[in-house]
Amino acid sequence: MSRRAEILRLTREFYAEELYPKEIFIPGRTKIHYSGRVFDENELVNLVDSSLDFWLTLGRYGNRFEERLSKFLDNRPALLVNSGSSANLTAITSLTSPKIERPLQPGDEVITPAATFPTTLAPILQNHLIPVFVDIEIETLNAAAKNIEAAVTKKTRAVVLPHTLGNPLNIHDLMATVRRDNLYFIEDTCDALGGTYDGRPLGTFGDFATISFYPAHHITMGEGGAVIAKTTELAKIAASIRDWGRDCWCPPGVSNTCNQRFGWQLGSLPFGYDHKYIYSHVGFNLKPTDMQAAIGAAQIEKLPKFIEQRRANFKRLYEGLSDLKNIFVLPQWDPKANPSWFAFALTIRPKSRLDPLELTQFLESRLIETRKVFAGNILRQPAYEHINHRVSGNLANTDFAMTNTFFIGVYPGLTIPMIDYMIESIHEACVKISQRSK
Ligand SMILES: Cc1ncc(COP(=O)(O)O)c(C=O)c1O
Repeated sequence: MSRRAEILRLTREFYAEELYPKEIFIPGRTKIHYSGRVFDENELVNLVDSSLDFWLTLGRYGNRFEERLSKFLDNRPALLVNSGSSANLTAITSLTSPKIERPLQPGDEVITPAATFPTTLAPILQNHLIPVFVDIEIETLNAAAKNIEAAVTKKTRAVVLPHTLGNPLNIHDLMATVRRDNLYFIEDTCDALGGTYDGRPLGTFGDFATISFYPAHHITMGEGGAVIAKTTELAKIAASIRDWGRDCWCPPGVSNTCNQRFGWQLGSLPFGYDHKYIYSHVGFNLKPTDMQAAIGAAQIEKLPKFIEQRRANFKRLYEGLSDLKNIFVLPQWDPKANPSWFAFALTIRPKSRLDPLELTQFLESRLIETRKVFAGNILRQPAYEHINHRVSGNLANTDFAMTNTFFIGVYPGLTIPMIDYMIESIHEACVKISQRSK
């Protein structure tokens, strides 16, 4: 047996002895996370295998993961980056490239919901674009298509929209606006990998889509993300933005992919200046390592099963909580959507008089993790209070959800007893808190 094979055999043994989940669920004593990494020996073996290569930068595992991801997303080009935030930064910056026909210009307006994740918004500001905030629907927590349509002005050039908590946007109405007004669409699919709309995968509707592989998401590479491009031209621009802004598209360790490394004349550089050091964009370095990609390459094999488990967990929660419809607004989704849920959102109805803080604290005291819908109304966050922006209509639902909405997990690490305990605890909380407020 080769040394490598021996190390990988031991790695499998190590997994079985040290990392295989052995904990038995004890209600009230075992923490019920809202999300987390779910893995087996294959992720560990890939990670060790990749570290033994000591290639470090994107290589064979990166290629494998990108190919599998692209296949999963109707063969759209997929480009790995080091986070979902970097994916958003790459995608939005790519649309300012002078290499595209109608690049975004400073001062152009970009429509986005006010209930958002900070780094869905941040790249809009970082590119000197003006965010135009629209309100969400309480039932889906997504920017409402009618609000997006109403927000469009002559200055509007793009929409940057998340499928919030995995709930697909109303693609039908949204695409009508996008086409009519010739807008760019960045589809933040960070929370929604595996969902479909009208049978087509989310992440294949936008000019760009972005994905996060942080451990809370559908699959993980530790830290990581991906940019999915509509065309190979856009993918090439995104690769340049990701890779220092360079014009050269050679993968790490490779030279002369273009066959004319010393044959270019770009900008006012002298003819023959090494293409490896020609920069056509003001870029970043947002690449992950091949070790991260190795984990992702094992995770993507599990993706179909994970999606199924997320849907089943969501369904069990939905059925178990449906008698509380008078107290909570339960999630709703488009008839054409088949969501791959990130989480289960509950919005407390005003007439129920339940105190949201009391309710979430009760659940947390039972070791059931709860989370808010990211930044809430981001305009109320210290970093974003004074940004240059416009609000279209009002943000009443956004403000309402900021106070009254929270979510619990549906991730594949949850078991049926855990889900039933969550359902039971929510019922108990409703009885206890409402009795006290009488
Ligand atoms: C909708 C959305 N967009 C972007 C991100 C950023 O992803 P990352 O944490 O990988 O940077 C997140 C993270 O949770 C998210 O939920």
